[in-house]
Amino acid sequence: MISARPYIKSVFFKDEGTKNRKGYPYDIPAVQHCEEISFHPDVTFFIGENGSGKSTLLEAIAVSYGFNPEGGTKSARFEVHNTHSSLHEEIKLSKSYKLPGDAYFLRAESFYNVATKAEEFGVLKSYGGKSLHHQSHGEAFLSTLMHKLTGNGLYLLDEPEAALSPARQLTALSLIHQLVLQDSQFIIATHSPLIMAYPGARIYEFGEWGIREVNYRETDHYTVTRSFLEYPEISLKLLIENEEE
Ligand SMILES: Nc1ncnc2c1ncn2[C@@H]1O[C@H](COP(=O)(O)OP(=O)(O)OP(=O)(O)O)[C@@H](O)[C@H]1O
Ligand SMILES: [Mg+2]
Repeated sequence: MISARPYIKSVFFKDEGTKNRKGYPYDIPAVQHCEEISFHPDVTFFIGENGSGKSTLLEAIAVSYGFNPEGGTKSARFEVHNTHSSLHEEIKLSKSYKLPGDAYFLRAESFYNVATKAEEFGVLKSYGGKSLHHQSHGEAFLSTLMHKLTGNGLYLLDEPEAALSPARQLTALSLIHQLVLQDSQFIIATHSPLIMAYPGARIYEFGEWGIREVNYRETDHYTVTRSFLEYPEISLKLLIENEEE
């Protein structure tokens, strides 16, 4: 069977006028300097400093694709906080000729609201059956990855590592891989050097320059974590001395 992936091939900014607009989200460098990015059929990561625009772009892609801005399936329709930007109106997605069989937008920030709505709408069974509020944050997150995502899907995840221990992050990585083997595409915003190690993934780093592709071992996440873990005492000593200067 020929795969229809990537379900989202690329995103591009519709017109140059966007670049001259003022205020959020148009003044975020990643938005100002980016024209187009293309996605890997398996896994694409958005990485970069806090506030560099990863969630803003992921959300705009999600809304443009037809998801609820707060997350969930494409049929989830509710609004707890209306804070999403109008960026979805300024971008265009290049999509596959075929729709995915499953789709989910999972974001750490508003997962609590999605969990509440899952109970209200009586769809807990598809999340594994147990109330997401009666599980720890990490357990509820993993239940969602394990039960709700059924493969042949398009999955947008914003900081899936947020509540997960390092060992469970590896579990999440393995679940992601199982779903990729079942013809799924992921676009994931993350800070986790474990999650972003997914083999062969495309990694886009957001920053003052806009959005650029980087290799895993060149990322700050990899180099900073690695040097810290290798020499924690030296790293801490340097950090404290720098602060004292
Ligand atoms: N609703 C909003 N109104 C105004 N500014 C906002 C809004 N949401 C985010 N911002 C600003 O836009 C910038 C990008 O935010 P965004 O949430 O996309 O960053 P991020 O890369 O996802 O960061 P993090 O890694 O902390 O999640 C930040 O400077 C943030 O303060
Ligand atoms: Mg974010």
